[in-house]
Amino acid sequence: MRIGRHELPNTLFVAPMAGVTDRPFRVLCRRLGAGYAVSEMVTSRRDLWSSLKTSRRADHAGEPSPVAVQIAGIDAAMMAEAAAYNIDRGAQIIDINMGCPAKKVCNAWAGSALMRDEPLALAIVEAVVAAAEPRGVPVTLKMRTGWSASQRNAVRLARAAESAGVAMIAVHGRTREQGYGGAAEYDTIAAVKAAVRVPVVANGDIDSAAKARAVLARTGADALMIGRAAQGRPWIFGEIAHELAHGEAPPRPAVAAVAGWLIEHLHDHYGLYGEEAGVKSARKHIGWAVRGLPGGEAFRAEMNRLDDCAAQLGAVTDWFARLAGSHALLPLPAEAANDDLMSRRA
Ligand SMILES: Cc1cc2nc3c(=O)[nH]c(=O)nc-3n(C[C@H](O)[C@H](O)[C@H](O)COP(=O)(O)O)c2cc1C
Repeated sequence: MRIGRHELPNTLFVAPMAGVTDRPFRVLCRRLGAGYAVSEMVTSRRDLWSSLKTSRRADHAGEPSPVAVQIAGIDAAMMAEAAAYNIDRGAQIIDINMGCPAKKVCNAWAGSALMRDEPLALAIVEAVVAAAEPRGVPVTLKMRTGWSASQRNAVRLARAAESAGVAMIAVHGRTREQGYGGAAEYDTIAAVKAAVRVPVVANGDIDSAAKARAVLARTGADALMIGRAAQGRPWIFGEIAHELAHGEAPPRPAVAAVAGWLIEHLHDHYGLYGEEAGVKSARKHIGWAVRGLPGGEAFRAEMNRLDDCAAQLGAVTDWFARLAGSHALLPLPAEAANDDLMSRRA
């Protein structure tokens, strides 16, 4: 599959997640089998570009190509400026956020709220395409199925965005009103796929090869985007790719390999955030990595009390070494629950 002139190695993508899919996490997911990864959203507010948070998000050192940056905002001229700013800093693809439900950026309902104002949404797409296209940078769009159950306008918006020049459309199968609740719905994604010629990416609740296969069959989508299921499981992309290609699941990853990936991730993470901030923001990644593993919950609580990198790294290394002593391969959550029960009984 291609986005503009960029050929992608496969069609399993990392969904943008603010506070999660920073450069270290994206690089790791790409190395472990994701074909493409979009950055966390960057605000279109110029006054925030020099903030530490935004400048970290605009740092793409060592990131494999194509570098895709998601921008969020509610003003067409500001969004065009944000596209140009990020292209100057290495963005090779600009993604427009019309999917995020939070009232976070610009002190206003940006993200999925734009779906409620189609003329504004379209003006933003046109302005961003006008800024990016002359520089050879494709523009993509990430949206939900609509604002609410009674206003599912993804198909209309997708058609208009395609006419305005977007190169790919990703659809999260929920309305803005649903937030992250309920189950993702794939019929609207199928309708978007049938309505446009540009590639369509299906997103929402994909957490296994079986689910990936079902969503592909249901939607006819060109690619899949995985968000929450990759938290603490960056190898999920390679795992699903293997099963889709070979018809059977690969072996569970070795505990030693999982530990190695996590430690590599932590080193990169501290490198980007520094010791003080890094040790705190790494906790969520460690928590996700040990979730469902035997003794994982107790370890998470203990690890959350450590506040320097060396202690955090040491604790993670020791904990996984102990786990590797009892399990060569990463236990499934059901086995882990069983182990916990047995150790409580003992
Ligand atoms: C913590 C978190 C942060 C997110 N941040 C963004 C974001 O910055 N931009 C965006 O378009 N979507 C964002 N999303 C939505 C995801 O990209 C994705 O559409 C959603 O989680 C559904 O996919 P999933 O079921 O595979 O997680 C975020 C989701 C989560 C859980």
